[in-house]
Amino acid sequence: MNLDINQKTMILGIETSCDETAAAVVENGRIIRSNAVASQIDIHRRFGGVVPEVASRHHVDQITVVCEEAMAQSGVSWKDLDAIAVTQGPGLVGALLVGVNGAKALAFAHHLPLVPVHHITGHIYANRFVRELIFPLIAMVVSGGHTELVYMKEHGSYEVVGTTRDDAAGEAFDKVARTLGLPYPGGPEIDRLAADGKASIHFPRAWLEEGSLDFSFSGLKSAVINYLHNEAQRGNKISQEDVAASFQDSVAEVLVRKTMVAAERYHAKQILVAGGVSANSRVRSEMERAADVRNLPLTIPPLKLCTDNAAMIAAAGTIGYLKGMRADLTLNAHPNLPIEAF
Ligand code: KG4
Ligand code: ZN
Repeated sequence: MNLDINQKTMILGIETSCDETAAAVVENGRIIRSNAVASQIDIHRRFGGVVPEVASRHHVDQITVVCEEAMAQSGVSWKDLDAIAVTQGPGLVGALLVGVNGAKALAFAHHLPLVPVHHITGHIYANRFVRELIFPLIAMVVSGGHTELVYMKEHGSYEVVGTTRDDAAGEAFDKVARTLGLPYPGGPEIDRLAADGKASIHFPRAWLEEGSLDFSFSGLKSAVINYLHNEAQRGNKISQEDVAASFQDSVAEVLVRKTMVAAERYHAKQILVAGGVSANSRVRSEMERAADVRNLPLTIPPLKLCTDNAAMIAAAGTIGYLKGMRADLTLNAHPNLPIEAF
């Protein structure tokens, strides 16, 4: 596929797949003109996780405000836009529907093309704000809903070469945090505690079959929960910091080693890490160390582009737009959308 990736573009991106209502304007796929995010984290915290019905309702409340804010901050007008890109999936269906319908209404009202975007491609393309992508590459997408190793031979080409067989990495962080009595989302809490702890407890690493690029985190999660129960039964006081550091080490080691195996197997010239868990300090430092040893360029987006946002959707949507991907007003949300069609 020969894309003119230097073509001038101005794209409005919209993201509502989970608990952030977000809209952003991105120029030429790499310049953020605006990036508005209304987070619902505080609302879901008291339930200990995202409540889908509540999420949908808040997206409905926020979608217009956030789109107007993104347009106002961008300094561009509707007629300057080339297209509207929206997350079609994967995600919570009720949440996705709000963004999809909002995007359809805006595209119809302003006579703009509508470009469907796969959420994971958005996380990957958040890296293009940091530096231009070099192909072939391996991207490790680790978030609350995903743990995916994606091989890209060129722009807009995605092949999943490894995925989780049970929990996503972020889900494991959130569940372990909950067992430790920490608030939602648990990832940042574990990260913070681990900074003061020692990785002195040995928790398992699930390597799976020889050569497998798949992941499994449910065994690790159970091992942590069992450890906590056993220690409590024996009346031993545990160090939350050490549990956090030991658990985090186990996750990071598996993520990093499998990413490096994939990079070697697919002769990658660059490694990308993306998704909420790439905010994790141990994952970041271990990825950096391993990539350094192999002399491979590694890119991880800045923290605020690691978690869900719409700038990344606009960036991935730019590639979709250049590829000629278009949706009409029958576009529907797809909670299990496969990546290969994008
Ligand atoms: O990408 P994201 O915002 O949403 C999804 O698409 O899922 O990722 C959210 C996930 C949550 O599970 C959260 O606990 C995790 O990312 N996370 C972290 C850190 N910051 C966020 N996990 C580990 N360490 C962190 N510093
Ligand atoms: Zn995400």
